[in-house]
Amino acid sequence: MTASDGAPPDDRPLVPPPAAFEGRVTPTADDRASFDADWPDAWATAADALDWTAGYDRVLATDADGGPPFEWFQGGELNACANCVDRHLDERGDAVALEWNGHLGESRTYTYRELHAEVNAVAAGLRDLGVNEDDVVTTYLPAVPAVVVTMLACARLGAVHNVVFAGFSADALATRMERADSRYLVTSDGYYRRGEAVDQRRRADNATMSLSYDLDATVVVDRLGTDPDVDREGRYAYDDLVAANADATVDPVSRAATDPLFRIYTSGTTGEPKSVTHTTGGYLAQVAWSTERVLDVTADTTVWSTADPGWITGHSYGVYGPLALGATTVLTEWSPDAVDRDRPWALVEDLDVEVFYTAPTVVRSFAKWGAEYPDRHDLSSLRVLGSVGEPFDAETWAWYFEHVGGGDCPVVDTWWQTETGAVLLSTLPGVDGAKPGSVGRALAGVAVSVRDGAGDPVGPGVRGWLAVDRPWPAMARELATGTAWGERVAVESEALDDADAPSDEDAGADAGAGAGASWWYRVGDEATVDEAGYVTVLGRADDVVNVDGRRFSTGEIEHALVEVDGVAEAAVIARDDPDSGNALVAYVTTDDDRTDVSTLRDALDDAVAAAIGAGARLDQVVFTPDLPKTRSGKIMRRLLEDIANGESYGDTSALRNPEVVGELEARHDD
Ligand code: WT7
Repeated sequence: MTASDGAPPDDRPLVPPPAAFEGRVTPTADDRASFDADWPDAWATAADALDWTAGYDRVLATDADGGPPFEWFQGGELNACANCVDRHLDERGDAVALEWNGHLGESRTYTYRELHAEVNAVAAGLRDLGVNEDDVVTTYLPAVPAVVVTMLACARLGAVHNVVFAGFSADALATRMERADSRYLVTSDGYYRRGEAVDQRRRADNATMSLSYDLDATVVVDRLGTDPDVDREGRYAYDDLVAANADATVDPVSRAATDPLFRIYTSGTTGEPKSVTHTTGGYLAQVAWSTERVLDVTADTTVWSTADPGWITGHSYGVYGPLALGATTVLTEWSPDAVDRDRPWALVEDLDVEVFYTAPTVVRSFAKWGAEYPDRHDLSSLRVLGSVGEPFDAETWAWYFEHVGGGDCPVVDTWWQTETGAVLLSTLPGVDGAKPGSVGRALAGVAVSVRDGAGDPVGPGVRGWLAVDRPWPAMARELATGTAWGERVAVESEALDDADAPSDEDAGADAGAGAGASWWYRVGDEATVDEAGYVTVLGRADDVVNVDGRRFSTGEIEHALVEVDGVAEAAVIARDDPDSGNALVAYVTTDDDRTDVSTLRDALDDAVAAAIGAGARLDQVVFTPDLPKTRSGKIMRRLLEDIANGESYGDTSALRNPEVVGELEARHDD
């Protein structure tokens, strides 16, 4: 698919599960074979771990050819909030459901009983304001307990939540509300960002004023202690809502397994953001099941998934998965790579965090800071370390394993997407050996392949498109129904504009329009798979640059660059060039203790030449203190491209580090 034929030789030995981990783990066996033998019915294991108000008739209903529409747990009814809260009350009412740590160092603990009370109060309040089943309630909140409470209150009412990251601009909020026809908003007076109070009211007001309809109600959480301005019509204070309904109870509304639980947007480094909808039954079943299998969470586990609740990771492994299992989930208002360097480890120590789940970009920041910070804390409570969101290079993997896990904790590199809802590819802790730099194999019940441009599976080591070959319970509704199956993929294949790219005719297979057996979902990533089934994700298919008629995966070049001693992170893009058409530009950050970059340039060129042949040359290397990132840690290559080409770029409010933009522009002019 690109200039390099096949993949580099791949005889890396597997890292066996650490011996110290034995006996501390739930998944003691690999159940891939039993799932394959009894697919799709084996998925009943996941569903049966939930409480249903009406049992399902079929594990998976399909059309006559085994194709879409796919209905998981057809006929079943349940309530997600009852599964995440009520059912734990008898045995675990006083156990901690949520540990919150705020920006200013505040903390707040909710037992399951306390969570139940506040969720009921908010559900009662929202119901009084008119929220009904299937209404869409948008939240525009920092990572405070009210987000979790509102999500669960919506689930209780059968309303659909639509969590929008607090850092988004007014325009971004308006688009996300308007497209969902959302008439209820839960927001805050403001929030803290890097120690400073940010006003949120004006942005929320600007967004709602630009909607083509009037909102039915706005609920305001007091985060900054300012006047919530609730005298205005249609505006209510969250605290008043809770106080007024302190003793209220709301019966959980039974929902069909296939009913929507929430809407959410993909983080999107290119093109238009795309929303997907997740179901109540299939989503919750697979999320709970994978939280147990992959992150080894049980009712006694304290898990810290560092993603903001505005992203799917926050939904699946910060809220629904841990709470469905009756575990303790940790929510921080700060990102662990954006605070005092000791703070994440002090929190792990303080709360005895057992499972730590984050993104490679965060671990790279830790590694860049140096081992002294984790080293001076007692991290012995940690049991499993996880990663998600982008390719996790072997070097950073090893740093994480050694300095955070102390060599005792399995590191799981989990692959999934907003669309997949739950992890699909990972090693199983305590069962599978790890292959740093690769995600694991397909989990039980999941089948994947790597395919060429014509949609035919390719052999081990050959680069192609990653595809999921069977439906899975947590698949987004758009994929299950076959309606908007490929919006994201379609956007990205346009960007490829290459004879190699699967054409629309091939889409029959991924669209599910063909016979059942040929249904598959092209996820938009390039990958290779080895003999044992370990998948190496090379990056999004759109992260490909064309230089002198040869196509290079930016991820592959970046891999080579970060291997260079002293380099922390790298992003590669193509700049328009009057002579060659395209010039390769690398943006590079260095380790903190590296002050002299002049000697790096040759090493970078050598690394690129060694990795992908002499044909590729870096035309420019820009050393920068930071790279622009989405909140989930993906490098915004589109923004780098715009900067490099001197083009205007859009809204940067969603970046985790918007201040980097000015810095980059300045360096380009040098
Ligand atoms: C894309 C999905 C799922 C929550 C986080 C992001 C990339 C995800 C990995 C991984 C390499 C990964 C893929 C995927 N990705 N996990 N372990 N190794 N790449 O969700 O925003 O929907 O992005 O993230 O490119 O398609 P998302």
